[in-house]
Amino acid sequence: MRSFRDFMESALYDPERGYYSIREKAADFYTAPELHSAFGAVLADRLALLLERVAKLEPRGLLRIAEAGCGDGTLACQVARRLREKHPALAARVSFVLVERGRKDLTTAVRRLTAFGVPVTACTEISKLPRFSGVLYSNELLDALPVHLLEAREGKVQEVFVDAENREVCGPLSRPELAPHAAALAGRLQEGERHAVSLEAKAWIAAAAARIEEGFVVTIDYGKRFAPGTANPPRAFHRHAVETELTREPGARDLTASVDFEALIGAGYSAKLGLESFESLSKFLIEGGMLGFLEAAAGDDSAAYRERAKLKTLIHPEGMGEVFKVLIQRKAK
Ligand SMILES: C[S@@+](CC[C@H](N)C(=O)[O-])C[C@H]1O[C@@H](n2cnc3c(N)ncnc32)[C@H](O)[C@@H]1O
Repeated sequence: MRSFRDFMESALYDPERGYYSIREKAADFYTAPELHSAFGAVLADRLALLLERVAKLEPRGLLRIAEAGCGDGTLACQVARRLREKHPALAARVSFVLVERGRKDLTTAVRRLTAFGVPVTACTEISKLPRFSGVLYSNELLDALPVHLLEAREGKVQEVFVDAENREVCGPLSRPELAPHAAALAGRLQEGERHAVSLEAKAWIAAAAARIEEGFVVTIDYGKRFAPGTANPPRAFHRHAVETELTREPGARDLTASVDFEALIGAGYSAKLGLESFESLSKFLIEGGMLGFLEAAAGDDSAAYRERAKLKTLIHPEGMGEVFKVLIQRKAK
């Protein structure tokens, strides 16, 4: 029997049968940069503002942009293109570092970015990043980290395990770090309600803080600042529909859990990352100029209509606009 966390790790990342080893792009879900390149352009403009601030503190040093969980490099290419077009002086001072645990995707991402003429290095885990000054960003990385799963069962908060036949079974906590989470949920979760605990997301923020000398961590993902004791059940995504059965056909569907930004902000403070801002994706994109992209997509033909529909999905509250959040944390020397 293994913990749900270990089941999820192998269902997503088994080198042969894991979801991310065999994922057919956009078959089950779109990420924002897969939907429209305006997402990367607005992000690049914000990264440029943050990098200008770092540049004032590091006037002669090389600045870095790191993307963690970069997949095949779609977003990194959007960011690099916008920097070159709109922020050329800054672009000339910046090198990229790509972090991606999937080696095939990482190779593709490096090839695509190199074709742009951008200096790029790469690694498969954040602990291997060289220390740098600049910005480290991620989009939909933290929701893809395996989570421990707690459930209210028979009046107690227990952990969910998965047996050899892929059936879910409750049992005592597998890790002492889960005890404070179970205590916070006790008496608050209804019988059968569940809460995903991402010990890995908190460790990731601490690791990110340790790699940055001067700069910012920008985390874009879906989730919210969960109040203590709130349920947060993980979900399976298959062909753009949400499924509640998590352990059926491991590797055939995406498994994911909303990010607990309250936990990330807290983990950040413990790692000397101050809170710079926390806002909805909608606010982030609109204040960053997304309406200009909508205006530029004016027209009556079906291509213009499709273009506007994609842009609206990014900002609409019932699309990605309110569910997704943007957290910016600052590390100072
Ligand atoms: C949902 S995809 C997002 C890809 C891309 N950021 C985008 O927005 O299209 C999550 C990516 O994170 C990668 N990943 C998961 N855990 C990771 C880790 N610990 N370090 C680096 N990459 C990781 C996965 O392999 C996958 O490519």
